[in-house]
Amino acid sequence: MEKPKYFIKTFGCQMNTNDSERLGGLLTSVGFEVSEDETKADLVILNTCSIRDHAEQRIMGFMEQYINRKKNGERLLVAVTGCMAGRDKDGALRKRVKVADLFFATAEMVNLPRWIAELRPEWIIEGDAVEDYLKINPKRESSIQAYISIQTGCNHFCTYCVVPYARGLVRNRPLQDILDEANNLVENGIREITLLGQVVNAYKATDHHVFKSFNPYQNHFAALLWELNQIDGLERIHWTAAHPVDMDDQVIHALTLPKQVNYLHLPVQSGSNEILRKMNRKYTREKFLEIVEKINRARPGIALGTDIIVGFCGETDKDFEETIDLFKTCDFDISYTAQYSPRSGTLAYRLYSDDVSSETKKQRWQTLQNLMEETTLRKNKTYQDKVVKVFVENRDGDWLLGTNEELKRVRIKASELQIPPGSIIQAKITKPMTWILEGEIIQNPE
Ligand code: 5AD
Ligand code: SF4
Repeated sequence: MEKPKYFIKTFGCQMNTNDSERLGGLLTSVGFEVSEDETKADLVILNTCSIRDHAEQRIMGFMEQYINRKKNGERLLVAVTGCMAGRDKDGALRKRVKVADLFFATAEMVNLPRWIAELRPEWIIEGDAVEDYLKINPKRESSIQAYISIQTGCNHFCTYCVVPYARGLVRNRPLQDILDEANNLVENGIREITLLGQVVNAYKATDHHVFKSFNPYQNHFAALLWELNQIDGLERIHWTAAHPVDMDDQVIHALTLPKQVNYLHLPVQSGSNEILRKMNRKYTREKFLEIVEKINRARPGIALGTDIIVGFCGETDKDFEETIDLFKTCDFDISYTAQYSPRSGTLAYRLYSDDVSSETKKQRWQTLQNLMEETTLRKNKTYQDKVVKVFVENRDGDWLLGTNEELKRVRIKASELQIPPGSIIQAKITKPMTWILEGEIIQNPE
């Protein structure tokens, strides 16, 4: 019998990407195969994002095609998972996606084989039950780079954010599971690992006896980074997203470990103390600047990225100017700026009014975007004629595509050279632009 086929559409963050890889692993283990073509799939899963209203609206827009396919008599199963399903405590969103046969929060994916069997008994042919979704082995797209989720959920309750509602309170994976996964990946050719967690730097191991007795760190996250640094064959380690309040001295020190990429993503959200207080971020602008100073002292030249929300409830021109000022002081390499989007169920939705007009939000967003682009170009120009280490990810025609140690995108002209993905090469930057550094190879891979 032909295997049933699945197709997963992923929205949102890297955590969702890794969860989709888990869904893929689970479905493969019960006898499904992936379909490259969505229209040929028997089961379509939408792994959704709720971070802003726009994300949810986009997903709603996709539903039409499934309604039509079903009207045309296809025996298609549609499943909706991810944050939209996770946060839908009152069933309002479920009602709006009538076309979905299944609707479940991410952690409930362990039940998926049973639910499918109830609807299509002929499709499930093998596989053992799993209890914890974090124990499912992800079916990964890349053979050189991998995400490892070390934690899910969040206890911070920033007032604008749906994550604690959608994913629940924080749950950390056992250290042993993380190390086994990392070792196994590296044995199979993975050369770069990205650790994922909503507050990744607050990681706590339930099985801390697993840390080596001579591990120099007591902070569990710093100690985890040290353990991963001992894995032969692993080239680069990256992690996201960090919360400033958990950037303690040991985590900052761990930024100097040899496999750490020269980049840190540290969301600030706002430069105004009043807005930070209303967001429940638990730090002041002074505290944030102090952390950034410590980071720069520990690892001079590290590239910093951030997340900023403009137009949060009550944000005045003066508050926004403080954000601009903080951006300039930190000289961020990249900023993911979002216009505030009220989310039902969150504290900000209940406590404050969304009183900044969409016009003003748009203007502030554009101002920050322009500042970021100017900053990025100015910084990228400093790479002119410099030699950088490039991690090659793939090839596009004559170009090798990859990133340098600051995780800036690089393309290198290498028409005749056979350089496999995962190689690290030296390249001279000949043409720095805002979004990409162009260069030429000066040395073959080691
Ligand atoms: N509106 C706008 N942006 C938001 N983010 C989280 N919630 C909201 C919201 N309600 C942004 C934050 C966070 C990033 C993942 O998304 O900047 O760091
Ligand atoms: Fe959301 Fe704040 Fe938790 Fe980040 S730390 S996931 S912004 S609640």
